[in-house]
Amino acid sequence: MTAPKLALATASAAEAAVDALVIGTVRTEDGVALQPGAEAVDAAFGGDLVGTLTALGATGKSEEVVKLPSLGKIPATVVVAVGLGADDSGDGITGEQVRRAAGAASRALSGTAKVASLLSTVNLQAAVEGAALGAYSFTAYKSNGAKDSGITKVDFIAPAEGATKEHKATLKAATAIAEAVATARDFINTPPNDLYPASFADKAAALGRAAGLTVEVLDDKALRKGGFGGIVGVGCGSTRGPRLVRLTWKGPRAKKKVALIGKGITFDTGGISIKPAASMDQMTSDMSGAAAVVATVVLAAKLKYPLEVTATVPMAENMPSGDAYRPGDVLTMYGGKTVEVLNTDAEGRLILADAIVRACEDAPDYLIETSTLTGAQLVALGKRTSGIMGEPEFRDRVAAIGRSVGEGAWAMPLPEELRGDLDSRLADLANVTGHRWGGMLAAGVFLGEFVADGVPWAHVDIAGPAYNAEGPWGYTTRGGTGVPVRTLAAVLADIAENG
Ligand code: BES
Ligand code: MN
Ligand code: ZN
Repeated sequence: MTAPKLALATASAAEAAVDALVIGTVRTEDGVALQPGAEAVDAAFGGDLVGTLTALGATGKSEEVVKLPSLGKIPATVVVAVGLGADDSGDGITGEQVRRAAGAASRALSGTAKVASLLSTVNLQAAVEGAALGAYSFTAYKSNGAKDSGITKVDFIAPAEGATKEHKATLKAATAIAEAVATARDFINTPPNDLYPASFADKAAALGRAAGLTVEVLDDKALRKGGFGGIVGVGCGSTRGPRLVRLTWKGPRAKKKVALIGKGITFDTGGISIKPAASMDQMTSDMSGAAAVVATVVLAAKLKYPLEVTATVPMAENMPSGDAYRPGDVLTMYGGKTVEVLNTDAEGRLILADAIVRACEDAPDYLIETSTLTGAQLVALGKRTSGIMGEPEFRDRVAAIGRSVGEGAWAMPLPEELRGDLDSRLADLANVTGHRWGGMLAAGVFLGEFVADGVPWAHVDIAGPAYNAEGPWGYTTRGGTGVPVRTLAAVLADIAENG
């Protein structure tokens, strides 16, 4: 996509010469109010902008968009009043409220060239992220000349307090974070006939090299030779062979080593245990975890996090064929554990097991793995809340950070009795339990068997949140969402700061 240019504006909102000026409205007990910082714009409209907006139907509710022609009262042609919702906590409007409003405004402004935003005076980082992500569109496969959102530039009015240097750093970080989310979305939105293990690996390697990362790619032959039985087993049903990509950012004065792992199934038919036809097309998003960790390690380099971060990314296409692995097969995973395959549709955990064992060889201080792993995640937590499992302390930390950046996240247990349900007649363990209960947790228990002792780890199941098959909302456009890139970025920043 072509992203709008994002800049800090020196002019005041009432002076910005743009096509549209975005201001926030807040829902209050007795109606609607303007966001703080809108005084000069209000004055230019004669001091009763609220009255006019109310007459136009504004209530301040979240994501509501009301457009008002300025008719020469200010240089901006149109004022776009976007609802922030109410200050429910009494502690002020949250970052996520600003992010969603900014995203809704961008979506309502598609086709508008130059935009200024006053939301930045409430929360600069959130205003930038929301505006950029709401403006995202993916038109690479439209033949009719459809263009990207069309917003060419957004000027963010600088917040009053704080030094400009800090504002510049915030703008830079927020822009880089939004770019990383867009990178993940682009990977997810690229259809599976063009994004398959080899092409995905090439694109990831190219991005990594451009960002100054160390890049390693293992192809089919190397995977077979290296004993990556999970990745080879899942990948062998496709004519397009599997890959394992490793991207490392070694930051200056890196004190901690973090392993990121993401599921890269470029398409999941279910294999011989084939899926029903309905919604199978959505399995183009089964590499969302991989997209997120590739984008995040590149971001770590762009923002020069003082960490050593390695993304270990297994990529395979899960297809039924004469060469496909079967229910009943026993695979020898990287590291030597054996797994009886009872369902070839539980393929993600098989490629991830290899990747986890490989990542643990580096003795990381933390390990975070993310995957569109189970339909059970959707049943338990819905479309917008990821399930976080793993070592309890780190799990809770990741879940809290996820919520703090506005990506829904909830800690889930790994009940020990589920381990017995994964016992296999033939092998060390089976890839599924014989029942339907706690499917998300059983997958987490399976993965936990492959994490080296003592490594604090978190498993982030994003089956629902990774992909938005319905209408857009806030800054979440249709298709790949880029979840959990912002959580991963914030966890890395937190580890860099607090260890
Ligand atoms: N990729 C799917 C999980 C999924 C389902 C992601 C819906 C996004 C939306 C995964 O590989 C899968 O098929 N899981 C099975 C596991 C089962 C066989 C134990 C599932 O959830 O049905
Ligand atoms: Mn599957
Ligand atoms: Zn899958």
